Amino acid sequence: MAINDLSSYLAYLEKKHRLVEISSEVDRELEISTFTDIADRESRYDSKALLFSNVKGYDMPVATNLFASMNTLRELLDNEFVSEVLGNIRSQHFKMPLLKGAKALMSMNPSTVNQSLKGYERSDDLGSLPILKVWPKDAGRFITLPMVISKSPKTGNVNVGTYRMQVYDNKTTGMHWQAQKGGAIHAIEAREEGKELKVSVVIGSDPYNMLSAVMPLPVNVSEFSVSGLLRNSRTVLMKNGDYPEVPANSEIIINGHVDPDEKRIEGPFGDHTGYYSIPEPTNVFHVDEVFAKKNAVYSASVVGFPWHEDAAIGQFFMEFMKPAITMMNESITDVYLPPEGLFTNVCFISINKRFPGEAMKAMFSILGTGQLSFVKMIAVFDSDIDIRDQSKVLWALATRVEPERDIQIIKRTTSDTLDHAANRTAFGSKMLIDATKKMREEGYEREWPDTISMPKEIINEVEKKWKSIRH
Ligand SMILES: Cc1cc2nc3c(=O)[nH]c(=O)nc-3n(C[C@H](O)[C@H](O)[C@H](O)COP(=O)(O)O)c2cc1C
Repeated sequence: MAINDLSSYLAYLEKKHRLVEISSEVDRELEISTFTDIADRESRYDSKALLFSNVKGYDMPVATNLFASMNTLRELLDNEFVSEVLGNIRSQHFKMPLLKGAKALMSMNPSTVNQSLKGYERSDDLGSLPILKVWPKDAGRFITLPMVISKSPKTGNVNVGTYRMQVYDNKTTGMHWQAQKGGAIHAIEAREEGKELKVSVVIGSDPYNMLSAVMPLPVNVSEFSVSGLLRNSRTVLMKNGDYPEVPANSEIIINGHVDPDEKRIEGPFGDHTGYYSIPEPTNVFHVDEVFAKKNAVYSASVVGFPWHEDAAIGQFFMEFMKPAITMMNESITDVYLPPEGLFTNVCFISINKRFPGEAMKAMFSILGTGQLSFVKMIAVFDSDIDIRDQSKVLWALATRVEPERDIQIIKRTTSDTLDHAANRTAFGSKMLIDATKKMREEGYEREWPDTISMPKEIINEVEKKWKSIRH
């Protein structure tokens, strides 16, 4: 089934019985988010997408939880080419058929059409959009799943990122791009050039474009190239006057501009940390014009105390990136970001330890990798520990760690903007825990005891007897 825009994606979810339509009247203030919260509590990592077709006071339906199922994410991004390339690089035997390789490379090259915005309804402000208020103490209504598209004033490179936007009024919003993110870097460049930054904001497209906007890609990697690779066909963009080009399958387009010197207080917002964010100054986005496709659906994401949609997205991306991480650091056998650790605060890795200091080396490599550099506490385990099993993790922490020797604090470094525990925004410390068995060369002079286990044959034999006794 071809998924080439949001409506075909919704049809796909419906066919898979992963979409629930709610046709009774709902309020965009707190009610839609509460429905979504309840659905997420019922089903971790595999929540249904919700389509609210009767939103009080609005003609436009609202979709939430579009990416809350890891099964859906796995199906969408089960890309033969990407897994073959990674497999080939690992095995050092390149077997990729030329044609397949050429097609995949072509798919990374977005095409641009002249298609006009004729099929869209134009308005001057945000008045027709059913933007949600998610939690009671939120400072107002927030656009929570936008694709914010900007161009580097210096290089012309395009960035697409999902950054929440607080509605101040129908012509003005906040633009919550964190300091290290692509959009924020473009705003800094615009200030250096003494210009304002033209920004187009898209709400709703095909899932590949929408997911590429939240993917923690390196700043110099184009999101629209990655979405083409994942979709296995070129991303089609359309010209958009003076504003950055937008996907030709956009549901809603908001064109506007940011004056890099203008800041306004943003928040509080009920964030994925489980706390309300602390109000802080952020850039301001001025709405110039809004276009909505006929029968457009407004998409939103609901986050809060874990678990929500972001847990499935984060978990999936980690799974997706694992082959690349383990390829760059071959001693790492697994990486896990527990959802309660918010994907930035707690990270567990396991290694096949071969030489002294290797545990530390592995932790440094994670802390130096893209957005994983936000991780606050990292622990490394031997590969006999299943780091996804909390009881094994606690057992290893209890039995393989000598605090004075194995815990290191790294001071005065980057931290996640959302970490309110740090004294300063985005600047704090890190804790590194080495929970591997220590070697003689690492100063451990005692004998490391064997772990207790029974031979498999005896277990099998006794299990048979046990079954016959119990039945
Ligand atoms: C639902 C959702 C909301 C997000 N909101 C923000 C946000 O407000 N600010 C931000 O900097 N990142 C936010 N992110 C994370 C970014 O989208 C992510 O870091 C992405 O890689 C940014 O793109 P960039 O690297 O091109 O800047 C959010 C992610 C999700 C899934």
